[in-house]
Amino acid sequence: MRIDIITVLPEMLESPLGCSILKRAQDKGLAEIHVHNLRDYTLNKHRKVDDYPFGGEAGMVMQIQPVDACISALKAQRDYDQVIFTSPDGQTLDQPMCNSLSLAENLIILCGHYKGVDYRIREHLVTMEISIGDYVLTGGELAAAVIADSVVRLIPGVLGDEQSALSDSFQDGLLAPPVYTRPAEYKGWRVPDILLSGHEANIAKWRHEQALERTRLLRPDLLD
Ligand code: ADE
Repeated sequence: MRIDIITVLPEMLESPLGCSILKRAQDKGLAEIHVHNLRDYTLNKHRKVDDYPFGGEAGMVMQIQPVDACISALKAQRDYDQVIFTSPDGQTLDQPMCNSLSLAENLIILCGHYKGVDYRIREHLVTMEISIGDYVLTGGELAAAVIADSVVRLIPGVLGDEQSALSDSFQDGLLAPPVYTRPAEYKGWRVPDILLSGHEANIAKWRHEQALERTRLLRPDLLD
């Protein structure tokens, strides 16, 4: 999979994309993530990419020309499954959406910024708008990092243990059961005996019951 991220703040994406599992996925050749500085595509001699809104509102609006130039340059090289725009008014990112995006070959993510982007970008260039939740960020970079992280980790081979993506919270519509590690007792707080029993079938049954119970308590909406 290849992800091209278009932003005015490339440095904001360096560390989330450049360490841990996302770095390993890129090192192993399972994912390519390219970050493009929108300012490299503007025709403005001061590298400006925004301007005042028509109609006299406050704030600046991202202009269509550099965005179109960058997306066109990318599309001239390969086909893209989606051109994603990060925005609080998009469809809320959830696990089924991540699963479906993880099947894509090539994705563009355009990070929203300032007061917004010229609406023609959304009408003519963007194919999908994604929000990462009902709150407003200062820009779309963190949302783009969240999308890239949640999608790339699902690519086969990215996680060491293939099972671990399948047993995630949400992957079977349930929250994950609790996990524990050594020591079996700490300050008198004990790990549930069943996990120390070595009885695989009983442990699997306990895990499922715990997943159901935690989902019923914490996220009953997932059971509807
Ligand atoms: N940009 C600002 N807030 C956002 C959000 N919640 N999701 C995606 N992009 C955003």
